[in-house]
Amino acid sequence: MSNLETSRGNWGSKFGFIIAAAGSAIGLGNIWRFPYVAGENGGAAFVLIYIIFVVLIGLPVMIAELAIGRNTEKNPVGAFKKLFPQSLWKAIGGLGVITGIGILSFYAVIAGYTVGYFIKIILGDFSAVESAAQSGQIFAAFTANPYISIGLLLVFIILTVLVVMGGVSAGIERWSKILMPLLFLLLIILAIYSITLEGASKGLSFYLKPDLSKITLTTFARALGQALFSLSLGMGTMITYGSYISKRDNLVTSAAYVCFFDTLIAILAGLVIFPALFAMGMDPAGGPGLVFVVLPSIFAKMPGGMIFGAGIFLLLAVAALTSTISLLEVPVAYFVDEHGWSRKKAVVSMGAITFIIGIPSALALGANHFFSTFIKENFGFLDFMNALFGNYSLSIGAFFIAIFAGYKWGVNAISREIQEQGSVFYFRPIWAFLIRFICPIAIFVILAYIAWTGNYF
Ligand code: PFF
Repeated sequence: MSNLETSRGNWGSKFGFIIAAAGSAIGLGNIWRFPYVAGENGGAAFVLIYIIFVVLIGLPVMIAELAIGRNTEKNPVGAFKKLFPQSLWKAIGGLGVITGIGILSFYAVIAGYTVGYFIKIILGDFSAVESAAQSGQIFAAFTANPYISIGLLLVFIILTVLVVMGGVSAGIERWSKILMPLLFLLLIILAIYSITLEGASKGLSFYLKPDLSKITLTTFARALGQALFSLSLGMGTMITYGSYISKRDNLVTSAAYVCFFDTLIAILAGLVIFPALFAMGMDPAGGPGLVFVVLPSIFAKMPGGMIFGAGIFLLLAVAALTSTISLLEVPVAYFVDEHGWSRKKAVVSMGAITFIIGIPSALALGANHFFSTFIKENFGFLDFMNALFGNYSLSIGAFFIAIFAGYKWGVNAISREIQEQGSVFYFRPIWAFLIRFICPIAIFVILAYIAWTGNYF
């Protein structure tokens, strides 16, 4: 029996925690979402702001979430309730629970597509691909099939449910330790290949040479959403994961590792996608289909490409799974801790609800006209959920978590938690400044600007 079922349990080791938290952070956000959002928002200028946000907002908020979680040993709702029983702060935890379901519902659709692509590559569906246009047609035809899209969504939800039912540490840690480094290795090989393609240099300069004139406040808004999404912040995932971390571990260094590796993988994914994309003369603002179109076109040309292709989509599916389990874990921990549900009941019912909410997203890349053009042309229900929960909910959540950490529970309480058992709180004054001023003000200005201009999507 896993230790979660007997008690709350702990990660096997500090390394175990870092690998599990990195498993939550590293996923489709890095390899699917980051490149297409960067491509839509000006390339290098976006990347620059993104990195600044990871350091100035992501890292401090992650430290705060981990400290809240470890101190209370609770899910997000329980954590706020334990610290301030009579206050409304638990509503922020509640928003996190809903956000977890919201994100999982569309995330599992894309994750399902990675499984589908793994199978398609093995079946040889891409062996005759000669151009990016052809690869694009294959993707469009694939996602236009409602049975396949919904079926793959179901498969992925079931996979997630099975893992989460078994408890936290054992399975996740064991697999992530082997597979995440392998994903890293494959991405490096692919990046090298992509950079050496003819015509790749245009892609490199799009991706790495910032054109500051392309920066608008919208760029900041997208970069903020992307940073929080990629680091699994703003909905209490790191509160939940922090509740399983040992008092011996240093939260600050753990958080720094997670932020570093997560960003490294995202940057690397861009180095795979953009050089190849420009070499093939494609549009960087291709939207959510981008990696599914670009990657197979790379494999088609590459020696041994199909083996790489199968490998990368398999590992992408695994990376997505270590993220979906963290998404499902938040509502599950909530119903188990706060409503006394059995773990099995919580997991199965949350999985079922997420599947149903996910169906419109599964139909949103061509299978159904209404859902595919839900907001506007080329911006369907999946994009809508992605923006609503993946950008705005997380931004609002992170804003309040920063306020909570900086003012309500307070910098001293967090410091005490971090300094448990002699751990050193590195850069404490800088952290305090960031969490009290930079994080809330920056997030507030960005959200106010978006609300003011109505430029939500
Ligand atoms: N961070 C994950 C990714 O980049 O793929 C997605 C995610 C997981 C977002 C967990 C939020 C979360 F709470």
